[in-house]
Amino acid sequence: MALPALGLDLCSLLGLFFFQLLLLLTTTTAGAVGQGPMPRVKYYAGDERRALSFFHHKGLQDFDTLLLSDDGNTLYVGAREAILALDIQDPGVPRLKNMISWPASDTKKSECAFKKKSNETQCFNFIRVLVPFNTTHLYACGTFAFSPACTFIGLQDSHLLPISEDKVMEGKGQSPFDPAHKHTAVLVDGMLYSGTMNNFLGSEPILMRTLGSQPVLKTDTFLRWLHPDASFVAAIPSTQVVYFFFEETASEFDFFEKLHTSRVAQVCKNDVGGEKLLQKKWTTFLKAQLLCAQPGQLPFNVIRHAVLLPDDISTAPRIYAVFTSQWQVGETRSSAVCAFSLTDIEHVFMGKYKELNKETSRWTTYRGHETYPRPGSCSVGPSSDKALTFMKNHFLMDEQVVGTPLLVKSGVEYTQLAVETAQGLDGHRHLVMYLGTTTGSLHKAVVNEHSSAYLVEEIQLFPDPEPVRNLQLAPTQGALFVGFSGGVWRVPRANCSVYESCVDCILARDPHCAWDPESRICRLLSTPNMNSWKQDMEQGNPEWACANGPMGRSPWPRSRPQIIKEVLAVPNSILELPCPHLSALASYRWTHGTAAVPDASSTVYNGSLLLILRDGGGGLYQCMATENGFSYPVVSYWVDSREQSLALNPELAGIPRERVEVLLTRGNDGAALAAQRSYWPHFLTVTVLLALVLSGALIILLVSPLGALRARGKVQGCGTLPPGEKAPLSREQCLQPSKECRTSASDVDADNNCLGTEVA
Ligand SMILES: *[C@@H]1O[C@H](CO)[C@@H](O)[C@H](O)[C@H]1NC(C)=O
Ligand SMILES: *[C@@H]1O[C@H](CO)[C@@H](O)[C@H](O)[C@H]1NC(C)=O
Ligand SMILES: *[C@@H]1O[C@H](CO)[C@@H](O)[C@H](O)[C@H]1NC(C)=O
Ligand SMILES: *[C@@H]1O[C@H](CO)[C@@H](O)[C@H](O)[C@H]1NC(C)=O
Repeated sequence: MALPALGLDLCSLLGLFFFQLLLLLTTTTAGAVGQGPMPRVKYYAGDERRALSFFHHKGLQDFDTLLLSDDGNTLYVGAREAILALDIQDPGVPRLKNMISWPASDTKKSECAFKKKSNETQCFNFIRVLVPFNTTHLYACGTFAFSPACTFIGLQDSHLLPISEDKVMEGKGQSPFDPAHKHTAVLVDGMLYSGTMNNFLGSEPILMRTLGSQPVLKTDTFLRWLHPDASFVAAIPSTQVVYFFFEETASEFDFFEKLHTSRVAQVCKNDVGGEKLLQKKWTTFLKAQLLCAQPGQLPFNVIRHAVLLPDDISTAPRIYAVFTSQWQVGETRSSAVCAFSLTDIEHVFMGKYKELNKETSRWTTYRGHETYPRPGSCSVGPSSDKALTFMKNHFLMDEQVVGTPLLVKSGVEYTQLAVETAQGLDGHRHLVMYLGTTTGSLHKAVVNEHSSAYLVEEIQLFPDPEPVRNLQLAPTQGALFVGFSGGVWRVPRANCSVYESCVDCILARDPHCAWDPESRICRLLSTPNMNSWKQDMEQGNPEWACANGPMGRSPWPRSRPQIIKEVLAVPNSILELPCPHLSALASYRWTHGTAAVPDASSTVYNGSLLLILRDGGGGLYQCMATENGFSYPVVSYWVDSREQSLALNPELAGIPRERVEVLLTRGNDGAALAAQRSYWPHFLTVTVLLALVLSGALIILLVSPLGALRARGKVQGCGTLPPGEKAPLSREQCLQPSKECRTSASDVDADNNCLGTEVA
C-alpha cells in the first residue's frame, strides 16, 4: 500500500479517518436539513408498505385531465388523443370501461408541423378541458395540433359515446394552443368560464365565458387587463362571482423588473357585457394581488394551483393554494401552501382601486369619489356609460389579499394540491392536503389547530423524477388519483397497518388511523368507530393513549418492549443489531441496560449497532427512539453469551421472546469485517485522497518560509512533536488522542486492533 510511503503511521491515519468521517457526517446532514417540516415516513417507488395500483394503456400517454363522475364511481381521463372512462369501484387497479379516440385531424397536424412545431411531441390533440355538461353529456376541449377544438361527448351508463367529426367546434380561448401553456376552466350554470392563451404565439391571455344562453364575454386585450404572460391555474365559482387564479408579471411595482405576482380575478356570473362601451367584454373584471409570505421573508410569488375545500360548511370558506418562488436558493426552489378566506377576497374587491397615472406611468391609489352602484359589483341592471368608462381603467385593486401560510418547505416544488377534511375520533375535522411535486412525490400534510401543517408521509410515485400533472380525490373510494405522463396512480388515503405498534400509530397523527387495543392493530377510521379506539390528533402523545390496562400502571410503561429478540453470541465477536428507523422525526440512540452503550466497543452505522461483544457485555440492548418528547424502544435485543448465560432481568419477565440470528463476525478477523462493510473501501479512498491533498498543502506550506513559521506555531500548540514532515497532521493527532491505539495495542496485534477500533 502507498500509505507508509506518505509517512503516515496508523494513528495519524485514524485521526484522518475520524476527521473525514466528521466531514462526511456534517455534509450529509447539511444536505438533508431543509426548512420546513420533514415527512415522518418516506416510501420509495414500489415500497410494499404503500402498495399503489397503476393504470396504463399501451400507446397512450399524457394522462393530464381527470374528472370524477357525479356518483364517484367512474373516473374520466383525458389523455393524448383519447378520452377514457375508468371504473374505480374496486380497490385494485382501475378497470377500463371504454375509451374513445379523438385525434387531431391530418390537415391540422400537417399545418402544425408546417408552422415548425414538433410532429413528435406537440402536434397532437392534448385534452385540456373535461367537464360535466349535463346528465347526458360531457364537454371536452383539446389543443388539436395547435388549433384548439371542443366537442360534446355523449354518455351512456357512464360509457363514452364516439365523437362524430362534424360535432367538433373551434375551441379558441377554451383550450390553449400549446400543450405547455397553463389553462383553467370551470362549468357553472351551463356556461364555461375559461382562462388560457388565446393565440398561437402564446402572447394573448384571455378570460372568457362561452356556452349557455348568456352572451360570450371576454377580457379586453387592448386595455391590458392581463399582462401578456398571464398564466391561469384555477377557476373557482362562488355565489355571485367566478374567481380566477393566475400569475403574471406585475406592472404596479415599477422599482422591480420582471417581478412575478400571483393574482385573483373576479367576474360576475350575471355580467352581460356593455351596450355601447365594452360590448361583448366583461364589465365586472377586477383583479387583486395574492400574497403568500412568511413575515420578513421574500414572498412566494408564483401560484401553481388553487382549490376550494369541497363541502366546506364553515362560515368562512377558504381557498387553498400552492406557491413557489421566483427566486431560487441553491438547486431547488421552495414552496408554500397558503389559505385565503373568501371573505378577505370579497373585502379586497370591495375596497379601493388603483389607477395608472399616465404622466408618470405609475400605479397609485384612486382617490376620486365613488359612484353608486359600485363599478365592478354584481348589481343588477345595465351599468351606466360612466361606470363602464371607469371600469376600463380601474381593474386593479389597491389592497392585497393576504394568505395564511400553512406550510413552507424548501427543497420541493409543489405543482398540484387536493384537500379534504377527515373526522378524527374526537369528532373534530382535520384538514388533510395532498401535495404533488415536480419530482413525482406526493406529500400528505395535516393542518393542526395552530394552522401549521405537518407531513404524515411522502410517497415517491415514480422511480424516475417527473412532475405530477393532476390530482383527483375520490372520497367515496377513499383514494386519490394521480395523473402523469404514463398513466394514473390510485393512492389509498392511508395504510394504517404500516404503524405496527400503538406508539407508532399515535405518533403518526394521521387522522385516518386509530389504534384498536383489542386486536392490537392500527386501523383505518370508518363509521361507526369503536369507543375503545385510540387517537391523539392534538398532542400525538402515546403516553396516555397507549397506556391501558395493567400495563399503564407498570413502573416503566414507556420503555417496556412488546417483544424481545434473543441473540446468542460468542465473546469477542462483532454483532450487528439492526434498528429500523420508522420515523424521520425521531432521534435514535442505543442503550445497554439503563446506561448508554459504551463507545469503546461499539459504533452505530446506518442505524444498526455494531458491537464487539466482550466479557460481561451481554444483556439488554435497546434502540430507543425519542419523538414528540416521548421515548420508546423500537427494538430490544437480549444478547446472551454462548459460553456463560446471563441471569434474566426480572423486569423483563413476561415479555414474549423470539430467537433471532444476527450478522456475526469473529473479532479477530478484521480483514473479513472490513471486506463485508461496503463503506470501507469508500472511506479508505477518501482517506487516501485527503492524505494526498493534505500532503500537497503541507508542501506548499513548507515552501513558503512564512508558512513554515505558521506550521511551527501550530505544532507548539500541540506540544510534543518536533516540526517536520508530520507537522500539519499533528492537529488531527491532537483531536484524536492516541490513547485508543495504545490501549488496544496491548490486546492483540496493533494492525488489526486499530482497524477494529475504526469500525467500532
Ligand atoms: C400496508 O402495510 C402492510 C404492513 O407493512 C403491508 O403488509 C400491506 O401490504 C400494505 N397494504 C397496502 C395496500 O399498501
Ligand atoms: C415527423 O415528420 C418527419 C419528417 O417530416 C417524419 O419523418 C416522421 O415520420 C414524422 N413523425 C411522425 C410521428 O409523424
Ligand atoms: C345535454 O346537452 C347536449 C348538448 O347541448 C344536448 O344535446 C342534450 O340534449 C342535453 N341533454 C339534456 C338531458 O339536457
Ligand atoms: C441501512 O439499513 C436498512 C435497513 O435498516 C437497509 O435496508 C439498507 O440497505 C441499509 N443501507 C446500507 C447502505 O447499508
